[in-house]
This record gives sequence, C-alpha cells and structure tokens, in this order.
Amino acid sequence: MKKYRFEYFASCPTGLEELLGEELMGLGAQRIEAIRGGVQFEAFHEVALKAILMSRLASRIFKFLYQFEVNNEKDYYLEATDIKWKSLMDVTHTFRLTTIFGDLPSEREEFRNSQFANLKLKDAIVDYFRHHEGERPSVAKDFPDVAFLARIDRGREKPYVVTIMYDLCGDPLNQRGYRIAKTEAPVKENVAAGILKLVKWDPQTEDLIDGMCGSGTFLIEGALMALGIAPSYLKVERHLKNPDYKQWTFLNYPWLTKDEFLMENFKNILNEISQKTAEGFKKIPSLKGKISGNDLSDYAYDSSTENIRKAKLESFISVSQIDARVLNPGQNKCLFICNPPYGERLEHGEEEKLKALYKGLGDHWKHNYKGHRAALFTGNLEMLKVVGLKTTKRHIIFNGDIECRVAEYSMY
Ligand SMILES: C[S@@+](CC[C@H](N)C(=O)[O-])C[C@H]1O[C@@H](n2cnc3c(N)ncnc32)[C@H](O)[C@@H]1O
Repeated sequence: MKKYRFEYFASCPTGLEELLGEELMGLGAQRIEAIRGGVQFEAFHEVALKAILMSRLASRIFKFLYQFEVNNEKDYYLEATDIKWKSLMDVTHTFRLTTIFGDLPSEREEFRNSQFANLKLKDAIVDYFRHHEGERPSVAKDFPDVAFLARIDRGREKPYVVTIMYDLCGDPLNQRGYRIAKTEAPVKENVAAGILKLVKWDPQTEDLIDGMCGSGTFLIEGALMALGIAPSYLKVERHLKNPDYKQWTFLNYPWLTKDEFLMENFKNILNEISQKTAEGFKKIPSLKGKISGNDLSDYAYDSSTENIRKAKLESFISVSQIDARVLNPGQNKCLFICNPPYGERLEHGEEEKLKALYKGLGDHWKHNYKGHRAALFTGNLEMLKVVGLKTTKRHIIFNGDIECRVAEYSMY
C-alpha cells in the first residue's frame, strides 16, 4: 500500500482544470497535473489551506492518503480494513464517504457500482473500529466531522486501483454562503468565476453587465474579483465569530491541527483575508457603476437583490428589471455576460420563444454594443446557432452534469 505525503487533489467543474492549475500555482502549489475534473498537485500544507480559502475555481480540495490495487470488491473490503483508520479519525467522529469511478469502463465484472463500492468501504471502516475499539463511528451525510473520497480507476497490476483521500473542505467551496435565495437553473459559483476568467474579463478595463442575472451569481463573483476579496470571506467571518461552526472538515484532522506552526499560519491566512475584505469594501465608492445586473422576472429580481445584500455588496451592484433585448451599455467599455434560459424541458411553443430570445440578443448586440464584448453561457447548443453573430471564441464547460458552451462575441 502506497502512502502519500504532501499530495493533493483539487476538483473543479470540467473545463476549468487548466485555469485552476494556474490559480493553484499562484498560491504556491507545485508539480501541477490537470486531469479531467480536477488538478493533482504537491504543496506544503499551508498552501492547501490557502487553496481552501482562496481558490475561486476549486469545488473541493482532497489530500491523498492511500493507494492500493485490487481484483474485486471482496479484495477492496480486505485491503480497506488494513488501513489504520484510527490514525485518520476518532471513533467518536461522524464520517461521510463518497466513491467515484475515474476512468473505468462502463462494462465491469467485479465492481458493480459506486454506491456498492461505497458500502464496502463503510463496512471496512465500521468493522475496523469494532475490532480495534469495540464500538463503531456513525455516518453523517450533512456536517460530518470527517469525510473521505475513494476514487477507483483502472489498475496496472490488478484490474482496479483505489485511491483514498481526505476531503478537507466539508462544505463544497463553491458554496460561498451568499446564496440564500435560489432561482431556476442557477450557475454554480465557481463556474461563474471560471467563466469570467475564461473570457478574460478585466475589471480595470471593462464594466460587467449581466442582462439575465437570475440569482446574481456572475455579479457577485465579478464583484469579489474586482474588489480582491477571497471567495471564503463570509465563511472566514463566521469562523472568527464562531470557531466551532462545522464548515471545514480539515479542522478535525489531527495531522493539521496538532501542527502548531501550521495552525498559526492558518490564523494568519484568516487575518489576511479579513483585512483584504475590509480593504476591498473600501474600494466600492470609486468603482460604483462597474457591475450591474438585470432580470425581467420579479422573482429573479428579488432573489438577486437578496443574495447581493447577503454578500454585503448592495452599495456596489445595482439590478434593473427590463427585457435584456433593450438593455443598453453605459459610457465605458463593457462585457455583457448572460446565461439565458436553456429550455431543458421545452413545452409546446417554447422553442420558438427561446429562438426569438437568442436571436433578439444577437440583433441587439449587433446594433447597440459596437466596441463592446458579449459572452453567452448556455447548455442549449442549438440555440447558439440562432444568435446570428460570429463567435470570437468558444469554450466547453460543465455546470453540474450539463455540457455547456461559453460563446464569446466582439462587436465592431
Ligand atoms: C438560467 S437563468 C440565469 C441564472 C443565473 N446565471 C444564476 O446564476 O442564477 C435565466 C434568467 O433569464 C431571465 N430572463 C429570461 N428572459 C429574459 C429577458 N428577455 N430579459 C431579461 N431576463 C430574462 C429569467 O428570468 C432567468 O432568471
């Protein structure tokens, strides 16, 4: 069994791996390797903590623990009971397990499915503790004390290779804490931040308009980027007020918490984020008007306003309520970002309405956005064809399970 030291995996929405690698490099990660759905890297523990608190693109950060090859599920159980689980968690800790199949073919003989593999691992942990401590830890789906990820890929010597990792985050990192009101089909927070980076939005040179802002995700992520505020700022604030609140599982891992030097570093990172947040908020008066949102629906208008308030950005971001096809740019160069309805379940007549919406946007930009840029994010690839403008770039990105496109347009 191989034991890793100082090796991590950061997961992210597929399509953002390269950008995540660059972001992690900027935080001090080394030997970065992008694989589908994430990035493997080596780093000092302090860098991993920084990634948890400062990455805009990562969904979760994991620490590699063990890797072993197995022939089948029975083997898996036996190998897993060999792990010294009491060095990884206490019997009093609640735990959560997730198993994913990496590059396995869909036709498999010995491993049925990821839920079954997950059960085998749970049995191994429970049986290990019963044998060694006479009692068993409990499973918790929400707010577990510790969390593990098992990834099963094709093996080299045996059919399967299993990698066991600690999930250091607990709550996914894209849940920043500001989304208290939801609308239909919101984009994930790290997907929104990633799209702004993919299309190279530069707050120094361009204003940002989200013409169909829904719950306000692009607006808030853009504002945090423009102000230099870490995406974890609300979590950091909560931790400083209530250090017992269970939002990061890494605070239960003794190899981190028993390292006094590292914990001192953690406090310093928290203080740095807190200070930069305060500095960021001070920049708002000079940046007013830079970011604005709009949505035709009452519900989305209310939700985005509520989320913006929760994010403490109400003095920075304004939201209007008109048809995006008549929304005009301001004085400055701008990026018009928008994520129109995809129409996943199209009812009778809906398709025509959607076509009119996408075409209307294209026509409006062509006539009223000369010298500006637009970026359209959609899961409906057919609708992109009706926009009627030449794309300058296209990117593939997944929002959850949906394969989406970001189409960039420059209007001359
Ligand atoms: C997929 S949602 C946007 C989700 C958003 N990106 C978020 O993260 O929450 C599409 C939004 O477009 C809005 N919308 C649809 N037609 C519109 C129009 N003609 N003008 C302005 N907004 C429109 C809807 O009300 C809905 O909130």
